[in-house]
Amino acid sequence: MDRQDRLKALGLWPVWRLRGAAMAEPEAAPPEDPPSAVREPTASPPAPATPPSPVSGLDLDALGAAVESCGRCPLARTRTRGVPGVGDPKAEWLFIGEAPGADEDRLGEPFVGQAGKLLDAMMAGIGLQRGRNVYIANILKSRPPGNRDPKPEEVAACLPYLERQIDLIRPKLIVVLGRIAAQTLLVSDTPIGKLRGHVHQYRGVPMVVTYHPAYLLRNPADKAKAWEDLVLARQTMAGLKSGAAS
Ligand code: URA
Repeated sequence: MDRQDRLKALGLWPVWRLRGAAMAEPEAAPPEDPPSAVREPTASPPAPATPPSPVSGLDLDALGAAVESCGRCPLARTRTRGVPGVGDPKAEWLFIGEAPGADEDRLGEPFVGQAGKLLDAMMAGIGLQRGRNVYIANILKSRPPGNRDPKPEEVAACLPYLERQIDLIRPKLIVVLGRIAAQTLLVSDTPIGKLRGHVHQYRGVPMVVTYHPAYLLRNPADKAKAWEDLVLARQTMAGLKSGAAS
C-alpha cells in the first residue's frame, strides 16, 4: 500500500490534496508513514467544506442568469422559465410576492397576470409605477405546480437569491405581499391580520405587510385594509426620506 492508498483509506487523501492546492505557500507534504495517532484517528475528521453560496459575488444580471439555469430544487423540472425579478436596480421600493403563477412562468416576469394588474393599480395609488424606482420579486423564482404553497425546502433553496437581490438593490422600504411571503420572511406563524399595521425589519430594511393582490381579487372587501397598508408604506417612506435629509 503506497502513501496515497493509506491516506485514501483514512479518508484524508483528497482533503490533503485540496487544502494543499488552495494554500499560497505549499504545505509540508504529509509524512510518508503517518504516525499511529493519524493512522487511527482519535481527533474529529476534517470538517466538510461549506458549499459556496449560489449567489455570492453575483450582480443582478448574473443573478438573473443564475435563476434561469438554476436546478437547486425540483421546481426546475416543472417550470417553464425562472422568474428572477424586474425593475429599477436602484429602486427605493421593493415589492415581494410569493411565487410566479402561470402567466409569470410563461413570460419570465413577476406579477404580469390578473394579480399583477391589481398590483400595478395598488402601486399607482401611492404614486408608483412598475420599473420606476420600484423592483418586484418573489420568494420563489420558479412556479410551484398548480400554484400550491411553497415547500420549506424550496424556500431554503431559493431564498439566497432574494437575499442577494435585497443586498444589491438596498431598497429603503420593502412591501411584502400576502400571508405566505410575510410569514416566510418574518419566520412567524402570526396571522397576516396581526402582521399588517406595523413596520417590521428584514435584513435591516423596514418592511410593511399587506394582502396579496390575488387574495384581494377574491376578497375585495379587504381592499380598504390594503389601502391602509399602502398609506402606512407611503408614510414610512416619507419619514425615512425626511430622516435621511435632516
Ligand atoms: N403571485 C405572486 O406571488 N407572484 C407573482 O409573480 C404572481 C402572482
